[in-house]
Amino acid sequence: MGYPHEPHPKETVLLSKYFGEQQTRTYDGWVERGGYKTLKMALSMDRQHIIDEVKESGLRGRGGAGFPAGVKWNFMPKERSGPHYLCCNADESEPGTFKDREIMRWTPHALIEGCAITQYAIQAEVCYIYIRGEFTEAIGIMERALAEAYDHGVLGQNAMGSGHQIDMFVHRGAGAYICGEETALMNSIEGKRGNPRIKPPFPATRGLFGMPTTINNVETLAAVPHIIERGSSWYKALSLSNPKSTGTKLFSVCGQVQKPGNYEVVMGFPLKELIYDLCGGMHRGRTLKACIPGGSSVPILNRDEAEACLLDYEGAQQVGTMLGSGGVIVFDDSADMVYQIMQLTHFYAHESCAQCTQCREGTAWITRILRRILAGEGESGDLGLLLELSEHLTGRTICPLADSCAAPVVSGINKFRDEFEAYIKGAKPATAAAV
Ligand SMILES: Cc1cc2nc3c(=O)[nH]c(=O)nc-3n(C[C@H](O)[C@H](O)[C@H](O)COP(=O)(O)O)c2cc1C
Repeated sequence: MGYPHEPHPKETVLLSKYFGEQQTRTYDGWVERGGYKTLKMALSMDRQHIIDEVKESGLRGRGGAGFPAGVKWNFMPKERSGPHYLCCNADESEPGTFKDREIMRWTPHALIEGCAITQYAIQAEVCYIYIRGEFTEAIGIMERALAEAYDHGVLGQNAMGSGHQIDMFVHRGAGAYICGEETALMNSIEGKRGNPRIKPPFPATRGLFGMPTTINNVETLAAVPHIIERGSSWYKALSLSNPKSTGTKLFSVCGQVQKPGNYEVVMGFPLKELIYDLCGGMHRGRTLKACIPGGSSVPILNRDEAEACLLDYEGAQQVGTMLGSGGVIVFDDSADMVYQIMQLTHFYAHESCAQCTQCREGTAWITRILRRILAGEGESGDLGLLLELSEHLTGRTICPLADSCAAPVVSGINKFRDEFEAYIKGAKPATAAAV
């Protein structure tokens, strides 16, 4: 998969600067590169100043929803009446997304440093790093890095001699996509079934073990030391003209491009340049047909929309999609969109926790109808039925997994209707997948 690669001149490598360097995995290697200096400094800073700085930087959650990190931290009670927790979301199960895994594989101490600074700011003595169970290599690397951090006094009862307690533990997931949803993640850590909780109460009020909790994605937390070290104004300037989307973002590109992999660019970078310049364009002889820019949960773009899309929260919205997790899935002109969409809905049907009826039944029925269409047994009312079912999946469930299933169906039918209709009319489209 051509990864790690030499950074392209158009990349801005901040989080991925040391990807591929074995040495940064060790405590000594990290310290040689200036690691843990920012944590030491942060531990003597005013907590509110850290929160304000992160808020001012414009850093938004990189896990999917793009919620401002500093604003979320501010929701944590300032007065303590019991433990506070930080959960680092390293579940990374969103199809097409593989950036958090690389942060943990290559720079585990960067993540530890980001978590520790955040813990100090929100007064959370304990952080659970919830890692997708299949990431066996990343889990081993994180566990070794944590052991080293404890051995060197970075973590523990008296973190870096500051008098503050900062503890951190790895918690393995067990292969359920839904456990990446923040409240399901907390249930999973508590040893319960990973079902999302109804909000409110929000985690900052009543989270893990009923106590105030903040949940942030790996990439969000790994960006924190850079902001504290170099300041919010510096971070904010890392953007192509949009003050609402700042900093760098890792995009995991997969699909029919020449050079798939992780690419780090500043917010606002054109998707077209990511695909054609950084990833070397489409496979030889092929052209771009469609792209899902934010992991499988966001609406599909057709070629024109993809080529006009700027990669930041507002730019994605302008072309009718979302930045999501930054998992860019690229389809060439040989892709059978009906088959691809069925594969996605099958994933959501399989991963539904089955708590909400609309999600449990709707995701399964949509998949069944799509399979029927692909088998040449589609009926004239099927597209209307799919759109109606999608409507019932949107905004009506405890968590947005159901919405995620509806997004590719609705955008797919709107943009590639002729392919669906060809199947229903009994004429397999030229791109028909061999199923
Ligand atoms: C079904 C579902 C799965 C999710 N999976 C992940 C995941 O694997 N990693 C992640 O960081 N966020 C995931 N999220 C988003 C989290 O609920 C939450 O918004 C995020 O961890 C907050 O961190 P951030 O603000 O730093 O992005 C998921 C959400 C849903 C609804």
